[in-house]
Amino acid sequence: MAEDLIIASGSKTEKYQELIPQIKALIGSETDAIANLANVAAALKETFGFFWVGFYLVKSDELVLGPFQGPVACTRIQIGKGVCGASWQNKATIVVEDVEQFPGHIACSSLSKSEIVVPLFKDGTVIGVLDVDSESLNSFDSTDVHYLEELCRWLVSHI
Ligand code: SME
Repeated sequence: MAEDLIIASGSKTEKYQELIPQIKALIGSETDAIANLANVAAALKETFGFFWVGFYLVKSDELVLGPFQGPVACTRIQIGKGVCGASWQNKATIVVEDVEQFPGHIACSSLSKSEIVVPLFKDGTVIGVLDVDSESLNSFDSTDVHYLEELCRWLVSHI
């Protein structure tokens, strides 16, 4: 199949609705975790132009940097630390409207202004997180929560 993404020009909802079926088709029956996480990060970055999109994966009781798109980032995050570590500890999606207001936020880049972190669950255990950063304040809302959680639920059975 062609690997070019078709990117909807309308609302955020329309973009997600156009994107998610394309991601499912792109991944298809591929089972390699790195390949699939890398393509999801790339597809989200390409569609929305986010500053940074990537995955941290739980390895030996730490979150370790996985496939991502964007500037270089910190490699390891402990449980409870930063937005990613808090999402892992709380087993919950976290939306941060202004990273400067989030106690303990880990600033991999001073350009990042708002953020969403979505846990990846396998059998009720967090096996990693999806982290998306924006250069603008208040970039993420309930629409992102809805579609990114849906995407992550689907993705865990393909990694
Ligand atoms: N800001 C994140 C760290 C990861 S980078 O943004 C890529 C955090 O506070 O967990």
